[in-house]
Amino acid sequence: MTDVQSSPRGSYAEPYPHPSGARAPQIPREFLPRHVAVVMDGNGRWANARGLPRTEGHKAGERSLLDVVAGAVELGVEHISAYAFSTENWKRSPDEVAFIMRFTKEVMERQLETMASWGVRIRWSGRRPRLWNSVIKVLERCEEATRDNDRCTLTMCMNYGGRAELADAAASIAREVAAGRLDPRKISEKTVQQHLYVPDAPDVDLFLRSGGEHRTSNFMIWQAAYAEMIYLPEAWPDVDRRHLWQAVEEFARRDRRYGGAIDAVKPA
Ligand code: FPP
Repeated sequence: MTDVQSSPRGSYAEPYPHPSGARAPQIPREFLPRHVAVVMDGNGRWANARGLPRTEGHKAGERSLLDVVAGAVELGVEHISAYAFSTENWKRSPDEVAFIMRFTKEVMERQLETMASWGVRIRWSGRRPRLWNSVIKVLERCEEATRDNDRCTLTMCMNYGGRAELADAAASIAREVAAGRLDPRKISEKTVQQHLYVPDAPDVDLFLRSGGEHRTSNFMIWQAAYAEMIYLPEAWPDVDRRHLWQAVEEFARRDRRYGGAIDAVKPA
């Protein structure tokens, strides 16, 4: 891995433009999602539909991820979290699991310098046990190399599961109580938030899933409690920054009430 210098704020490179010439829509900051969660689904089906092994779909997904990150940077989205490998994905064939582990390392090594130049801070979220040590090493190296970047945070969710994260938070809270450092009567939603893998990440505003399925698949179930859900019919390898921009435009039109209500009786 090459040595990467974090650029001081204000001197970041602009992402390469989209080949179609499409430009990011101008959306006022107050209508932008601060945090977009992305489920990169449909790689296997995309590949199989072309007579290729599933792993070719993952390979094709690298360009989509980089392009969506470029689009997030151009738009001014502060956080993007990508579901790269779930705690349930260990059920896949050993060959596919090994491929995703090796491929994720390669992608991060290959794209670190480019993303760092755009001002992207890279983080890892997920469970340590069982995840390949070599993957953790590469992700931690990316975290270290980009820790001062403050334009956009890309959280790579590897060996991540929403339920696993909440179970780990509960275990961590229980340890604090057992050690006498925490009064159980003071446990609140804020306490749970503080014990998540990336406690300082804001709630997910926009949850974007490719591949045509309409479910969360255990991704960020705490953080996305009030997220707007947008499902794309396209498989992940066919997704690019323009899909993100369209989703954000749709997000900006939605009415978010967070459980509140407005009495809007029409005059008789
Ligand atoms: C979901 O598609 C994809 C995954 C479980 C793996 C995600 C990994 C990538 C996008 C590879 C690229 C990785 C990086 C780091 C860019 P699926 O395999 O469930 O597809 P299917 O629903 O068609 O079977």
